[in-house]
Amino acid sequence: MNVQQERLWNRLMSLSSIGHHSDGSGGVTRLSFTKEEREAKDRVAAFMREAGLSVREDAVGNLIGRLEGMNPDSPVLLVGSHLDSVPHGGDFDGPLGVLAAVEALQTLGEKQIKLKSPVEVIAFTDEEGARFRFGMIGSRGLAGTLEKSDLHYVDQDGVSVEQAMKAYGLSPDRFHEAARSQGSVKAYLEVHIEQGKILESKNLPIGIVSGIAGPLWLKFTITGEAGHAGSTPMNLRRDALTAASAIIQAIEEEAAQKPRTVGTVGQLSLKPGGVNIIPGEVEFTLDLRDVDETIRDEVEKRILNQAEQICKERGVHCQVDVLQRIAPVKCDESIQQFMMQVFNEMGLEPIELISGAGHDGMQFKDLCPVGMIFVRSKNGISHHPDEYTSLEDCGLAAEALYNAILKIAERS
Ligand code: HGY
Ligand code: MN
Ligand code: MN
Repeated sequence: MNVQQERLWNRLMSLSSIGHHSDGSGGVTRLSFTKEEREAKDRVAAFMREAGLSVREDAVGNLIGRLEGMNPDSPVLLVGSHLDSVPHGGDFDGPLGVLAAVEALQTLGEKQIKLKSPVEVIAFTDEEGARFRFGMIGSRGLAGTLEKSDLHYVDQDGVSVEQAMKAYGLSPDRFHEAARSQGSVKAYLEVHIEQGKILESKNLPIGIVSGIAGPLWLKFTITGEAGHAGSTPMNLRRDALTAASAIIQAIEEEAAQKPRTVGTVGQLSLKPGGVNIIPGEVEFTLDLRDVDETIRDEVEKRILNQAEQICKERGVHCQVDVLQRIAPVKCDESIQQFMMQVFNEMGLEPIELISGAGHDGMQFKDLCPVGMIFVRSKNGISHHPDEYTSLEDCGLAAEALYNAILKIAERS
């Protein structure tokens, strides 16, 4: 093995202490533009410097470590992932991709291997969307797909992306400076935990991603009529919560009709919220995904029709807002060929997998070819404190990335 898996592991464990909940609730919480994300980026910047990389942050806060190539002006190979997390998330979702990339580049430098193309490790800002219910801010910024209106999303305290960026030390009105020009990026590679059970079920450590499902996030606001729980007969109510629960039931039924569609209601809040008050207003989110955009949008339509019908029957109002709509993407064929060569040379089965989870690479479908390597997740657990990937599997993933970089950035 070329890379040093213990060094990678020690860095992973060091990073997992940042934002860790030591009150027994477990996991890490590192939301975008918070002090925890700042501390994590500072720690990774130090690792990047140890790896001999030149370090900078771009106009949307992406942390970038660069290994110069023999042809500095040639298109750059980007490798990386994210450092932000979901609330009470795990230690590997994001950080493994960033630190495996740092490890691969540090190994190249230590072996004095010169590459034709420059290579940059990137820790993207806000991949998860956990704070503003709008994600991939950093990769959208780099892809040039971030819009000024996207900076108006607010977190649960009413702080906008724009305000959070300012507080973080960025100039929001210069976010477009993070965009890379067409032709300036050779490819994007990402190592990421599988967050599923396929590799484990086949007893394989790593796999090649062939496609990434597209997440559609909707916000439903159901408005009925608050009232006295004791003096309002059942037939005279316009209960927002029972209407919402009928819609949520319909979501589960519609998503279950298709083999690869998944639908999740992850957030729900209601008003006024008294034990003896009929809920007048309910807000909940829907995360709907499929690798086939046509099927996903067909299921979306069926759900919206059902919601309209349910609200009409119950005399309540339904407002649906799109929080984010990301198209599924296929990973690049030629990159997958390189990956298969790498797996074969490493004596590993080149299994292909679909990603149900979204990833930053989805933002680069019009910028450059995208490739991903998945790493086995214990019991398929992720977005949870028990998320775990073994030291050996992390090492193999970094080794595969090292070999893929050698092929794609071309040893000079
Ligand atoms: O939600 C996702 O699919 C990813 O974890 N951001
Ligand atoms: Mn992730
Ligand atoms: Mn995630």
